[in-house]
Amino acid sequence: MRFLVTGGAGFIGSSLAKALEKKYPKAKVYILDDFSSGHFKNLIGFSGEVITADLSKKELWEWLKTNFQFDAVFHQGAITDTTVQDQRRMMEVNADSLRYILDACLHWKAKLIYASSAGVYGNSKPPMKEEEGLEPENIYGFSKLTMDRIAINFLEEHPEIQVVGLRYFNVYGPGEHYKGKTASMIYQLYRQMKEGKRPRLFKWGEQKRDFVYIEDVIRANLLAFEGNISGVFNVATGIPRSFNEIVDILNRYLGTNYEVEYFDCPYDFYQNFTQADLSKAREFLGYEPLYSLEEGIRDYLERLGETMSPKKDD
Ligand SMILES: NC(=O)c1ccc[n+]([C@@H]2O[C@H](COP(=O)([O-])OP(=O)(O)OC[C@H]3O[C@@H](n4cnc5c(N)ncnc54)[C@H](O)[C@@H]3O)[C@@H](O)[C@H]2O)c1
Repeated sequence: MRFLVTGGAGFIGSSLAKALEKKYPKAKVYILDDFSSGHFKNLIGFSGEVITADLSKKELWEWLKTNFQFDAVFHQGAITDTTVQDQRRMMEVNADSLRYILDACLHWKAKLIYASSAGVYGNSKPPMKEEEGLEPENIYGFSKLTMDRIAINFLEEHPEIQVVGLRYFNVYGPGEHYKGKTASMIYQLYRQMKEGKRPRLFKWGEQKRDFVYIEDVIRANLLAFEGNISGVFNVATGIPRSFNEIVDILNRYLGTNYEVEYFDCPYDFYQNFTQADLSKAREFLGYEPLYSLEEGIRDYLERLGETMSPKKDD
């Protein structure tokens, strides 16, 4: 088997590429990335090839069609900084490129599993269901919603190929630190506390998000690949947790006692509450989150080299 992972130098893509090599040792895994937000250090331990290119270029996909054959494409590459305001570039890279990728997958008869986002829901009413509340509040969320619509329209025309969109909620875990300011709040708060600083939160830290650990996201991708279903599915834990709770968990595991420093939120738009409805993912993908926030943070801290108190409060 041959797999292509776009955005494979990034946080999720690099983990996925390594997980594919582990699960399918005879397969060849290729990564396509332009290293705009990814980092080669994420690829230490990856043994496949890297293709360095801009995935928004149609010519690239024509060249790939002629020179390669893939059984599945895991499309993770995107502009992932949700504060980017360049609407045209965001749409070209995130949304328009999907048309070229779908066309290539049709040519190869390959499965396509692509990353969508909870950004499609904006601040609509939770719990968020796949077919409801599609009210993105920024161009990033709009670009991801456009991807889902392109995919669904394509499937109507070409039901012979399998296409799965996975709407990740807030993902955290090893490999995200190269994302800098766009890394998860879990990582940002951990860094601040490790540097001996008080953790900083927007007033009053009670905003809640559905945080999902990288291992659950990787498993959702593998389930999508192994199954035969097409469609768009939420990938999350289904349980919203507050930023204050993250600080409490980190204090407990790191053996610290930091108090939060609260400040005003500078953004016009901010997702205050996200919670996924997972019924569709459970029913059709067989997806079940395995990591609670406590279990995910514990595993993450261990992989960051922290030694923690015995498992008492998970
Ligand atoms: N991390 C999250 O919480 C989260 C939540 C929802 C959705 N997603 C989606 O998951 C996917 C992976 O995100 P991530 O968190 O790993 O982010 P990331 O920024 O670490 O990864 C994105 C990768 O895409 C590459 N890339 C960007 N533009 C490219 C281009 N034009 N050509 C080739 N490569 C390009 C980057 O260099 C990077 O390696 C993205 O599609 C993102 O929108 C992530």
